[in-house]
Amino acid sequence: MEMGSVLEEFNVGVVGAGYVGIVTGACLAQIGHRVTCVDRDAGRVADLEEGRMPIFEPGLEELVVRNVRQGQLRFTTDLPEVVREADILFIAVDTPQRGDGSADLSSVGKVARAIGRALAEASPGADKTGRERPLVVVNKSTVPVGSGDYVSMLIKEGATEGGSSGVSYRVVSNPEFLREGSAVYDCLFPDRIVLGAERRDALDTMRALYEPIIEQSFPTQADPRPKVTVPFVTTDLVSAEMIKYAANAFLATKISFINEIATICELVGADVSSVAHGIGLDERIGSRFLSAGIGWGGSCFPKDVAALRAVAREYDHEPVLLDATVAVNERQSKRVISKLQRDLHTLKGKRVALLGLAFKPNTDDLREAPSLEIAHALDQRGARAAGYDPVAGKKAQNLLPDLKVVFDPYEALAGAHAAVLVTEWEELRALDLERVASLMESPKLLVDGRNALDPRAVHDAGLLYRGFGRG
Ligand SMILES: NC(=O)c1ccc[n+]([C@@H]2O[C@H](COP(=O)([O-])OP(=O)(O)OC[C@H]3O[C@@H](n4cnc5c(N)ncnc54)[C@H](O)[C@@H]3O)[C@@H](O)[C@H]2O)c1
Repeated sequence: MEMGSVLEEFNVGVVGAGYVGIVTGACLAQIGHRVTCVDRDAGRVADLEEGRMPIFEPGLEELVVRNVRQGQLRFTTDLPEVVREADILFIAVDTPQRGDGSADLSSVGKVARAIGRALAEASPGADKTGRERPLVVVNKSTVPVGSGDYVSMLIKEGATEGGSSGVSYRVVSNPEFLREGSAVYDCLFPDRIVLGAERRDALDTMRALYEPIIEQSFPTQADPRPKVTVPFVTTDLVSAEMIKYAANAFLATKISFINEIATICELVGADVSSVAHGIGLDERIGSRFLSAGIGWGGSCFPKDVAALRAVAREYDHEPVLLDATVAVNERQSKRVISKLQRDLHTLKGKRVALLGLAFKPNTDDLREAPSLEIAHALDQRGARAAGYDPVAGKKAQNLLPDLKVVFDPYEALAGAHAAVLVTEWEELRALDLERVASLMESPKLLVDGRNALDPRAVHDAGLLYRGFGRG
């Protein structure tokens, strides 16, 4: 579509106003659709209506406020009303990990049933012209293979509860690949859009919805890359669901791979940064996701790899590569403790600064963050930890009883025998190392959990440097 050509505008509902839901809603509003985000959390909805973001995500607040002001975006707790109005309804609720590793679909299930009930109650299927137009229900939550059919079944059951057996809808799978910390960018400038559906009409509707993004034809203040056509990958439901899990499992495996190589580098005296550079230039390998360190965490990789392993086991398949990916990752946090023990010997009575608490830079998300595990391990060994994070500090105070959270990095470092760079925020990469050394107690150990610092500069400032796989 060329700039200025007619855009098909849709009424879009997004169920779940979390990291994915708010970003998806705001971006779809930005490209010209009328969007309503619905969440069961009335406090969250009230905050969003007032322009207060419940999450930290660069550029999101501005995007939300602008689109609310222009009448393109609104927030509510009233799901039936949103179902009645919508042409397309995204499900973007949480799918956390259950005890056995599988994905908990209870939130998705509740929403699906409620959609069925609302469809039944609204005598669905007719748009303003009286034309039959099925509601397109989009699974945006990360859900295991087969969930499309499951959602479809629950919508039908909900409709029966609501007194109708003939509601009209299509279920499609549209997995989300955004990265927290650059979610708005990723949503507007994705590497690809994946769509799984069993019916052509639903695919056509979704293609029309995403047309401005596919053709990069929406107005944007700072267009960060040359105009391209974004690949629109269409497939069946099950394959689309599998693409999401396979993508995350591959990325997690790539990180675990380089961490395994880093451990061997340490043993033989090689430098993993040079090794990663040397292999990453091979186009078949690629240079991204080859940073050795504490390993992966966050709201997606751990639970998605666990869910894929659970799916494999359901079919009596031992996913040995995925098992090893997880085993290597679990070892990385423990290696932080070993590195501290090597130079501090006993950790009892030692003070340790944790620099960065969020699972990665530019987010406030602490779900499965390595800082949680490290803080706990330090507490168990009798050390006292003080933690600092540029944005996740307040959330960490509630989540991490073992940790004294402070709001200045140098306060965390004052009197510490050791510091661990847990999250490579720009601010923490740029610390004044001489000031750090003047504040710390001997042996002034700095464990660089992300290989983000220059070992020579750290050494020259009078600190003892330990990285991962750096000889
Ligand atoms: N966070 C990410 O980076 C990311 C990236 C890709 C995919 N995903 C997937 O997207 C999904 C959502 O993830 P998230 O991080 O946005 O979750 P989140 O926990 O930030 O948000 C989920 C929201 O859904 C709401 N909710 C739950 N049940 C509801 C119901 N019955 N009715 C209305 N609202 C309800 C919650 O109140 C919450 O606000 C998950 O399946 C996740 O795996 C997440």
